[in-house]
Amino acid sequence: MLSYRHTFHAGNHADVLKHCVLLHLLDYLTQKDKAFWYIDSHAGAASHDLRSDWAQKNAEFDSGISRLWKEKTLPPALAEYVALIRTFNADVADGALRHYPGSSRIALTKLRAGDRMRLFELHPSESQTLQHFYAGQSRQIQQQVQVQAMDGFDGLRAVLPPAPRRALVLIDPSYEDKNDYLRVRSALADAMQRFATGVYLLWYPLVQRREPRLMIDALKKQFAQNWLHVTLTVKAPAEDGFGLHGSGLFVLNPPWTLPGMLKTTLPVLTRLLGQDAQAGWSLDSKIQ
Ligand SMILES: C[S@@+](CC[C@H](N)C(=O)[O-])C[C@H]1O[C@@H](n2cnc3c(N)ncnc32)[C@H](O)[C@@H]1O
Repeated sequence: MLSYRHTFHAGNHADVLKHCVLLHLLDYLTQKDKAFWYIDSHAGAASHDLRSDWAQKNAEFDSGISRLWKEKTLPPALAEYVALIRTFNADVADGALRHYPGSSRIALTKLRAGDRMRLFELHPSESQTLQHFYAGQSRQIQQQVQVQAMDGFDGLRAVLPPAPRRALVLIDPSYEDKNDYLRVRSALADAMQRFATGVYLLWYPLVQRREPRLMIDALKKQFAQNWLHVTLTVKAPAEDGFGLHGSGLFVLNPPWTLPGMLKTTLPVLTRLLGQDAQAGWSLDSKIQ
């Protein structure tokens, strides 16, 4: 039984890091004229109203995107990310922040005529809302985007390799089911067998459990090269052991531009999103 709803967390520090990297990868792929597919195994909702009861419950965006909203000087990648989020808020009075996009809507802004999106979402009402959103788009978008209410790990097996042999795959589970840490490993192994040249972006939470660390250690062994691992810690782990104190991303086949972008961006993210003296970042990679 799935209970996770991303609206409770929309625009938090983890979304900022994930969506800033997602945008960089999309920019990289769209530099070439050749078509690509954007595949999202755990797509979530298309957008989130930050004034809704769910988003307001813990107002996680206050310690995420809100902290960047009024910054005048940001490194290019963050400036581009904030500018993009502003486009979703163009109709909000006084330049306020109200709408935060889901990952698929961020990708949609970069989709060209020949590109395609394949979205998987298992939660019945979340997938219904997602389907409804894309059914309301132009004919052209409806032809480009397919939303399936099914398990995203199974979905990856069905969809890889994509026809144009170019793709960005976002794997962004909620880890509500602790098996997800293991399923991610086998999904990536299987995906790389089917489609070794894809760009894969995996998100995971920094929490007081051993599973995330074991998963990353295993992935680094599993894939000898062409990976990048980044973490952003925003605070000391809570004494009661609950909640996220940061998040991490593991990227397979990262573009050569990604480490440079992150080295400029992470110190600024740490300064803006850090909540105590334990805030910090890490970056390691093996790129040929
Ligand atoms: C972290 S949220 C996704 C957020 C989204 N990618 C974004 O960045 O806006 C994870 C989503 O995965 C969905 N989910 C959980 N288990 C799933 C599974 N096995 N297959 C597909 N979706 C799943 C949840 O319902 C939730 O909407």
